[in-house]
Amino acid sequence: MVREGEDDDDIVCLDESFFVNDDYQLTRFAYGSQVLELYCLQSASTDFDLTGQLVWPGAELMNDYLSKHYEMLRGCSVIELGSGVGITGILCSRFCSKVVLTDHNDEVLKILKRNIELHQSSQESHCLATEKLEWGNSEQLNNILQKHPEGFDLVLGADICFQQSSIPLLFNTVGKLLRRSQCKTCKFILAYVSRAKVMDNLVVSEASQQGLHINEVAGTRTVVKNLGGVIYEVTSR
Ligand SMILES: C[S@@+](CC[C@H](N)C(=O)[O-])C[C@H]1O[C@@H](n2cnc3c(N)ncnc32)[C@H](O)[C@@H]1O
Repeated sequence: MVREGEDDDDIVCLDESFFVNDDYQLTRFAYGSQVLELYCLQSASTDFDLTGQLVWPGAELMNDYLSKHYEMLRGCSVIELGSGVGITGILCSRFCSKVVLTDHNDEVLKILKRNIELHQSSQESHCLATEKLEWGNSEQLNNILQKHPEGFDLVLGADICFQQSSIPLLFNTVGKLLRRSQCKTCKFILAYVSRAKVMDNLVVSEASQQGLHINEVAGTRTVVKNLGGVIYEVTSR
């Protein structure tokens, strides 16, 4: 676009790729006896929307919790929201019958797909799929539910509560997934990392606002990377 007082010679052309750091490193993670490697960045991009390019403290909290309670994953179908590089969904795929990893960011979806390809070739993880899902986007959600009409046994989210405006949409999507599931014990497991008091309150109030029950899982309050963390279970019944 040429603004008033500008002509074509004043315009600096920079390709989008100039700003996106995709220098991913193959990195090793261990959760109990579970070891896995995937591609991720080692530090956050300056773009707020590219948070998914690295592994967040909430994923560490979630994966430690799941690796201690892997029996509850056996044979389950799982959908993960805000998967980022996919470390939680990929761990689940070792125990679950089906894992659908989702994110809304196209750049993040690229590295998520690359990590899924890396693991799909191994015998341990053969049930992985990825879908674009922006919380609150009914068309994208319906598209996923058309492919999986029975819904999911578990909904997972690790470190996905950091932007206030997205929390009502997040719980709206969670509510739809929980109510649609044919599994009576379907729940949303949220690995929550506290960075602001206002968000601590918003998460609890928005879950209730959507008619959902939110409960802290006893014994899960911990410190992760110098921040307070906790596992919540959210149900619709
Ligand atoms: C802080 S990162 C956490 C990534 C990963 N779960 C982890 O713990 O390492 C938050 C993720 O949520 C995704 N996200 C943020 N807002 C979203 C929205 N409105 N809809 C869908 N995904 C979203 C981001 O793209 C990012 O991948």
